[in-house]
Amino acid sequence: MKKYKQICFDSIDWHNPNQAQHYDLEHYAKNNDLSFWVKIAKKVRGSILEIGCGTGRVTLPILENGINIYGIDKSLVMIEELIKKTKIAKTKATPHLFVDDMKTFDLKRHFSLIICPFNTFLTLLSNDERQAFLTNVYYHLKKGGLFVFDVLDSNTNYLVPTKKWRLEKINKYPNGYLSKRYFLNKNKNMKTKTINIKFKTELFNDKGKLINRWFFNYFSAFLKTREIIILLEKYGFSIETIYGDYKGTKLQHVKIPENRIFIARKDCYKNAFSFQHEPRN
Ligand SMILES: C[S@@+](CC[C@H](N)C(=O)[O-])C[C@H]1O[C@@H](n2cnc3c(N)ncnc32)[C@H](O)[C@@H]1O
Repeated sequence: MKKYKQICFDSIDWHNPNQAQHYDLEHYAKNNDLSFWVKIAKKVRGSILEIGCGTGRVTLPILENGINIYGIDKSLVMIEELIKKTKIAKTKATPHLFVDDMKTFDLKRHFSLIICPFNTFLTLLSNDERQAFLTNVYYHLKKGGLFVFDVLDSNTNYLVPTKKWRLEKINKYPNGYLSKRYFLNKNKNMKTKTINIKFKTELFNDKGKLINRWFFNYFSAFLKTREIIILLEKYGFSIETIYGDYKGTKLQHVKIPENRIFIARKDCYKNAFSFQHEPRN
């Protein structure tokens, strides 16, 4: 088991997990994107910011590679969990972490790379919120800096309305415990292009006894690729490429993409002539 994975496992309070540990249990097996994020962080010279860093699923592997990173997240418990893990990990690099909102934070510095992994962009539920966020990302990037984020494909399973709970995934843990996560989606709003997905997770011990159950109410936007491109261009980014998987296959070459990964660059020429950003105080 990789070191950061072991740390994540060791830090779980199995009988009374907090909200951040719920997240870690639910996404325990999610690692198909990690080498992509590490690779992109390694390529960049200059400082890196992760928006929505959460409990450090992506932050920790980057730190483990000796790369310094800044992180912001609106959730204090998530950040606290990440701080706890970095202390245990004694990573070569140090994180600079802030509890703040991604639409309004102001770190008063500029980055060569800003990443926003694992659908965090889709938690912005209106064009006003997306404008505030993209303007803020633009402001925090150096000239020519990269903004990289991934979002679920708009044809994903989650968007098909369900009448009853559907099993989404089973996570098996090294101590013999397992969890089952179900989802229910009834409220798809075609006008606002948002969806309310309810998640239910049940945690079983190594004897198969149910020891915990929790619910998570999630609101997400669903946006077509074209709509995201228009937004990025409107707020001053040029699109370098869009991948349809974490191996780096171009979106148009992936038959049924699960994710779309946007690589966008702060386009200073465009900004100067087409979109006026508000000056910051
Ligand atoms: C899907 S998780 C991704 C966490 C981590 N990057 C990962 O890949 O596992 C989304 C994260 O974004 C944070 N988040 C959601 N809305 C936010 C906002 N408006 N400002 C800052 N963080 C936000 C959540 O607290 C959560 O930690």
